[in-house]
Amino acid sequence: MNTTGVVAAAVVPAAGRGERLGPGAPKALRELGGAPLLVHAVRALARSRAIGLVVVAAPADGVAEVVGLLDSHGLAGKDVRVVAGGATRQESVRLGLAAVPAGTEVVLVHDAARPLVPVEVVDAVAAAVRAGAEAVVPAVPLADTVKRVEPRPAGEPEPVLDTPERAALRAVQTPQGFRYDVLVEVHAKALAEEAAGMAPAVTDDAGLVEHYGGRVVVVPGHEEAFKVTRPLDLVLAEAVLARRRASDGF
Ligand code: CTP
Ligand code: MG
Repeated sequence: MNTTGVVAAAVVPAAGRGERLGPGAPKALRELGGAPLLVHAVRALARSRAIGLVVVAAPADGVAEVVGLLDSHGLAGKDVRVVAGGATRQESVRLGLAAVPAGTEVVLVHDAARPLVPVEVVDAVAAAVRAGAEAVVPAVPLADTVKRVEPRPAGEPEPVLDTPERAALRAVQTPQGFRYDVLVEVHAKALAEEAAGMAPAVTDDAGLVEHYGGRVVVVPGHEEAFKVTRPLDLVLAEAVLARRRASDGF
């Protein structure tokens, strides 16, 4: 397969409320070091020479605001498009993907909530798809031991069922990379199943590929590609950004 010169598109789901982060603006629009999380995430993608187009799935009532934010942060010159996202992450990705031109060969999906992903991770994911993988996820080993439990209401002790071997576990991040046709197909299948009331219970795009029998491979992720989910994550993100700015200054 000759994939020389193939440029990838990126879809950025950014339509979530950020409930776990607490009250305030939608998470993607919350500030980190003077710019919204989304702006950091789009910049990180635009920095990669592998990415030719970025499609942002914005909160449905915030499309014009997001267009304005991207413009005012100097991203107007890039090929960045904004569409209305949906009620779930999966729907937002599907709506973003619909704005990626058919004929694109490689698509990356990157959470707006992962503002500090290093460009090396973006490049490595795109390169692995170009090299022939149909689905690629960046991932890191776990620091904590993980136990599977029988969920119980809050306050009740939860019985432990078992402890998966930690060395074989990975925490997966984004951007996740896909062959365009594969990603379009699994999202179409998921939509059909959802309409039939049997939505597949997956939390990422690679999970959809797995669900329909596809093959997903892992490449090394990066600790700075963590997802801003809870208030403490925002504190960590500010610290990482301050460290980067300090070392850039020297
Ligand atoms: N997302 C989206 N559309 C939704 C829900 C989530 O585009 N309907 C996006 C978020 O904006 C985020 C990414 O998916 O960039 C990862 O989701 P998550 O971290 O769960 O973000 P939120 O859903 O915003 O946060 P929470 O679950 O705490 O409300
Ligand atoms: Mg969520």
